[in-house]
Amino acid sequence: MSYTAHFRVWRGDDKSGELRDFDVEVNEGEVVLDIIHRLQATQASDLAVRWNCKAGKCGSCSAEVNGRPRLMCMTRMSVFDESETITVAPMRAFPVVRDLVTDVSFNYTKAREIPSFAPPAGVAPGEYRMMQEDVGRSQEFRKCIECFLCQNTCHVVRDHEENKPVFAGPRFLMRIAELDMHPLDAAEERGLDRKRSAQEEHGLGYCNITKCCTEVCPEHIKITDNALIPLKERAADRKYDPLVWLGNKIRRR
Ligand code: SF4
Ligand code: F3S
Ligand code: FES
Repeated sequence: MSYTAHFRVWRGDDKSGELRDFDVEVNEGEVVLDIIHRLQATQASDLAVRWNCKAGKCGSCSAEVNGRPRLMCMTRMSVFDESETITVAPMRAFPVVRDLVTDVSFNYTKAREIPSFAPPAGVAPGEYRMMQEDVGRSQEFRKCIECFLCQNTCHVVRDHEENKPVFAGPRFLMRIAELDMHPLDAAEERGLDRKRSAQEEHGLGYCNITKCCTEVCPEHIKITDNALIPLKERAADRKYDPLVWLGNKIRRR
């Protein structure tokens, strides 16, 4: 069954913009991205939108649909009432390039600031041995499709541009947690303390575990419970354990 839906789509660039009204045909089984594509094909050929897979796997089509950060390709039209006005706007935490496309380079900057996995000296690829339990733990985090919806949602940066330089955001704090939990990551042998850098360089303390990041993750990764809270606990143990404190003191001499 087809019907006509009322859409309000944000049009504009980095200087100005506004929500514009469109009436668009909707067919059974369609998702919000289909309707945006129909708009491009029939009424707004210059409408800018980023997408690739249309299968919830590339992380490109992130936007705010009726104020909620979502993947447009995974948002079924059937979740809305046929008479409802559907608003589609770009992610709010990142600068607009044009229409629904934002500049997400903040995230790439943060990604580059995190040193990659460092295997122990003398262990070559193919020789890594891990317990299945450890494999399973980091596998959850590796489901991330880098849609940056969690980064867009976290209140620490969403309304506070000034926090961006000091806060890596949930996706990249989760990456640090993943590496810190990795039994073969030998960062410390190389003089790198991932817990300390999470606290002092990537703003772990700014996270007050509101869990909004977890709520919007399309991969259903338990970002807060399984990555951020354990990382906070590990960082706190390091700071307050008297033996660790003494060891650090002696090492620093
Ligand atoms: Fe997207 Fe989830 Fe990855 Fe965040 S953790 S970037 S919400 S897939
Ligand atoms: Fe932000 Fe998620 Fe922490 S929304 S405050 S990073 S729990
Ligand atoms: Fe790839 Fe939506 S188009 S996740």
